[in-house]
Amino acid sequence: MQFKRLSDLAAQGQLRGKRVFIRADLNVPQDDAGNITEDTRIRASVPAISEALAAGAAVMVTSHLGRPTEGELKPEDSLAPVAQRLSELLGRPVPLRRDWVDGVDVAPGEVVLLENCRTNKGEKKNSDELAQKMARLCDVYVNDAFGTAHRAEATTHGIAKYAPIACAGPLLAAELDALGRALLAPRRPLVAIVAGSKVSTKLTILKTLAERVDNLIVGGGIANTFMLAAGLPIGKSLAEPDLVEDARAIIAMMQRRGASVPIPVDVVCAKEFSAQAEAIVRNAADVQADDMILDIGPKTAAMLAGQLAQAGTIVWNGPVGVFEFDQFGQGTRALAQAIAASSGFSIAGGGDTLAAIAKYDIADKIGYISTGGGAFLEFLEGKTLPAVEVLEQRAA
Ligand code: 3PG
Repeated sequence: MQFKRLSDLAAQGQLRGKRVFIRADLNVPQDDAGNITEDTRIRASVPAISEALAAGAAVMVTSHLGRPTEGELKPEDSLAPVAQRLSELLGRPVPLRRDWVDGVDVAPGEVVLLENCRTNKGEKKNSDELAQKMARLCDVYVNDAFGTAHRAEATTHGIAKYAPIACAGPLLAAELDALGRALLAPRRPLVAIVAGSKVSTKLTILKTLAERVDNLIVGGGIANTFMLAAGLPIGKSLAEPDLVEDARAIIAMMQRRGASVPIPVDVVCAKEFSAQAEAIVRNAADVQADDMILDIGPKTAAMLAGQLAQAGTIVWNGPVGVFEFDQFGQGTRALAQAIAASSGFSIAGGGDTLAAIAKYDIADKIGYISTGGGAFLEFLEGKTLPAVEVLEQRAA
């Protein structure tokens, strides 16, 4: 992918005294009192800001937070807690500016945070008028918001058309480099784990990956639908019988390529979905009519761990069982440990996957952990991310 990079502009001295507008993704989870419960995205935004400041720029940073109503700024929509955390991380004041579209007062060597960009009228619809106004605020526009790269909004797309220079920040560039390494030029075998409750929400990803990967490991409700497709009983487990034909088509397509979708040979079942439910291990062929499959079994976990040990590249999206309940977390734990031990390059993304990585404490053993949720999935689907496409157009 060809686009300008902030680091090149900084190295060439092109930022000195310039007004730099950074679109970050600081959309972080908060508790009911507004406290930030997980700050990965804020930490990930620091390198771009520090780089621009060190290069002598006047720095403006903005992000969305949640999905507010445009034209209103309710207290819960404010980036105030983010400004505070960013200020701690940068070790300097980060003033928060409201009503900033028509002008921002910031001097070289200073950084200001511009209030929730989704409260500006026209942001979501990518209004040209808003985009042009925002472009007039800066000399250089930087997109460092990988998590929002699948959205064509005024701060992620429109402004990039009109700013004098438009480039990618270090986080966006690193995400695209890592995803490209995993999917466009992978060391083989390439193994993908796609798990989650429904085939329907990940059908495009499954079909796209089925054309590229050597092993497509499915988990959760998705695996149940594939078990149905393989003629196995699944009791009252979550599944989508109307997508069994799609699952069969994916299995057949993989087989034609000499690739595979490993179907579980054993599973962990329960009679009810609860934290106290007893875990019962069964061979896949022996699942009872009143069983719910909540995890892969130990033989399956060992088989898949063996495949992961051979992998040159691993793409991981989704836990393979209900890992929030420990008795149904052994499959996810076994795969997490196999990924951690693998000498292949691994990339992981998605909220549940990140929670599993944290639970099994393997973050430092994953090659790259994406900050993107929807954006990560859309990249896996093979879609063009609009925020990236416009940077490529500007570099042409
Ligand atoms: C995310 O959390 O996935 C991104 O910040 C995008 O948020 P959105 O789905 O509200 O556009």
